[in-house]
Amino acid sequence: MSPIFDKVVDRGATESMKWGAARRPGDEDVIPMWVADMDFEAPPAVVEALRRRADHGVFGYPSVPPSFRQVAKGWLERRHGWSVREDWMALTPGIVAALNFCVRAFTKPGDGVLIQTPVYHPFDYVVERNGRRVVRNPLRFDGRRYLMDLDDLRSKAGDGARLLILCSPHNPVGRVWTRDELEAVGRLAVEHDLLVVSDEIHHDLVFRGHRHQVFAALSPEIDSRTLTCVAPSKTFNIPGLSTAVAVASNPALLKAFEDERERSGFEIGQVFGLVGFEAAYAHGADWLDSLLPYLEANADLLARFLEERVPRLRLVRPEGTYLALIDARALGLEPATVNDFFLREARVRFSDGALFGPQTEGFVRVNFGCRRALLLMALERIERAVNALPA
Ligand SMILES: Cc1ncc(COP(=O)(O)O)c(C=O)c1O
Repeated sequence: MSPIFDKVVDRGATESMKWGAARRPGDEDVIPMWVADMDFEAPPAVVEALRRRADHGVFGYPSVPPSFRQVAKGWLERRHGWSVREDWMALTPGIVAALNFCVRAFTKPGDGVLIQTPVYHPFDYVVERNGRRVVRNPLRFDGRRYLMDLDDLRSKAGDGARLLILCSPHNPVGRVWTRDELEAVGRLAVEHDLLVVSDEIHHDLVFRGHRHQVFAALSPEIDSRTLTCVAPSKTFNIPGLSTAVAVASNPALLKAFEDERERSGFEIGQVFGLVGFEAAYAHGADWLDSLLPYLEANADLLARFLEERVPRLRLVRPEGTYLALIDARALGLEPATVNDFFLREARVRFSDGALFGPQTEGFVRVNFGCRRALLLMALERIERAVNALPA
C-alpha cells in the first residue's frame, strides 16, 4: 500500500474537468480515465507553499522572482543533465498556449508544420486554427510499439515544411524516444532547415530501462533551431496551475516567441502558478521518485490483466507517462462506437483513439494515473463488458 497514492480523494467535490464530466446526471458511477491529469494530491511541499501564499491574503499582479528560473534550471540540470541559462527561459501560461505562440512566431500562413501522428490532438488544431498547413508524418505501429518513419519525414521535410512539433516522450503512444531516434530527427531538421518545437512536458515520467533525451541537448546545431517546452504540470499533477516555460538558447527564437506571446496578451504570470511551479521543482524530487514505481506498477497491472483476462484488448505498452493506448479492434465493433461501448457497458470513460489521428480509430487511450484499486475496478468492469460481447 502506498499511503500517498492509494489515498481516496473525492475529486467530484471540486470543479475537475476529468471528474465533472463523469458526474453528469446519470453518469455518477462512471470511472473517468480520459483527460491527462492524475488523481493524486500534489506533493505536500507544493500544497504547503500554496497554502502559505493563500494565507497572505493579497493577490495582486505578481512579478517573476529570480528563484523561479533558478529552480527550473536546477531541475533540468539534476534530472536531465541539461545545462541551461536562466535568460533562455520564457514564462508561458501552458504548453498548448506556447504551441500557439510558436506556430504564429515561426511560420507564416500557409506554411507546412509537421506533426507525428497519432499525437496529442492540439498539435493538429493549433496548426489548423492558425491558418497553417498540417503535414502528417504518421508513426508506424509494428504491433507492439510505434516507431518513427524517417523516410516519410525526410520526404515531407523536403517538401516545404518549416516547423516540426515533436512530442517527446510521446502522448499517446507512450514512447520515450531513444537518442538514436532523436538524432535522426535532428539530422533531418538540420538538413532541411526545419525549426523544432520540442514538447517535453512528459519528460520526468519515464519508466525503468528508458531515459529521456533532451532534444536540444543533442548538439549545438540542433539546439540553435529548437525551442523546448517543459513544465512541472504533468510530473507533479498541477496542470490547473497553468504555468510552464519555453526554453531556447537561440535569442532570435526566444525573442520571436516572447513577442508573439505579448501580442497574444500574455504578459504576467499568475500568483499560484508561480508558487506551485517553484515549490514543485525545488522540493518535489522525493515525491516523484515514489510516484514513478507506482505508475509503472499500474502499467504492469494493466498489461497483465488484459493479457490474462481480456486478450481481445491489447495494451500498447508505455515506456513512460501515465497514458497508454489500448487496441480494441479485435472486439469487432464499428471503430466509431468503441469508446461509447466502454462508457455505456463498462461505465469507464476513456479518450477515443480517433481524437489523435485516423490510425488510432478503434483504439482508446487510458489514463492510469489513479489509485490502484480504482484501476482494478475499471479493469474488472471492462472484463465483464467485453466478455458479454459475442466472441
Ligand atoms: C504532449 C502534451 N503537451 C501539452 C499538454 C498540455 O499542456 P498545458 O496544460 O500546459 O497546455 C499535454 C496534456 O496532456 C500533453 O500531453
